[in-house]
Amino acid sequence: MPNSASSVVAIDGPSASGKSTVARRVAGELGWVYVDSGALYRGVTWKALREGVDTSRPEAVAALVPRLVWEFSEAQRAVHFTMDGEDPGLQLRSEPVREAVSDVAAVPEVRAFIVGELRRLTAFGPLVMEGRDIGSVVFPLTPLKFYLDADPLERARRRAQELAQAEGRSDVGRVLDSLARRDGKDSARPTAPLQIPLGAQVINTTALSIAQVVALIVAAVRRAAAPP
Ligand code: DC
Repeated sequence: MPNSASSVVAIDGPSASGKSTVARRVAGELGWVYVDSGALYRGVTWKALREGVDTSRPEAVAALVPRLVWEFSEAQRAVHFTMDGEDPGLQLRSEPVREAVSDVAAVPEVRAFIVGELRRLTAFGPLVMEGRDIGSVVFPLTPLKFYLDADPLERARRRAQELAQAEGRSDVGRVLDSLARRDGKDSARPTAPLQIPLGAQVINTTALSIAQVVALIVAAVRRAAAPP
């Protein structure tokens, strides 16, 4: 049963809301295993682009999914994967992947496959999983659901800073446009759109430090685990 006894902290929210850093650190504090679910959607996108699949054609993307061979492993309290024996690594963060991933993540066959894989990851132990539909679709029964949000300009500033570090250049205006486009697609898609999951604790991170957000979540998880 994917949704029953195994403990899962679900952390959802829009791009650059602070989910990744927060989820990683929450996992570290709890000693649980971190899962970046977006990396799987990026993985399918990376493969599609490499194989010349037109990512704007859902049926072409759907046809690729059954051909992919995934292997999941756990190292340093995080889940990693290879696709057809290859570790996509930093290529998952490249601009072409970034721009095409929302279209790929909107394909129902891609989502159905990835949701199944994500549920199986509980085999690695208690999880802290970040994404867009973790509390709403992947593990709707977990009581440990959080939805992180932040003002769009603050999110664009954060992402621009990350990009400047990774790629040596960034432009907040362009990042703001790109985030708005992706959030729009993620929220408007018919299958599992980005939404606040039922029962999630909403945390606006605009004026909070990473450490404050982590402390809020860890405290809530420990409260939930404590005997009455
Ligand atoms: O979190 P991220 O930026 O790596 O996500 C990449 C894309 O995948 C983004 O368009 C949202 C989508 N995604 C999703 O639809 N469902 C998830 N659980 C995680 C990511």
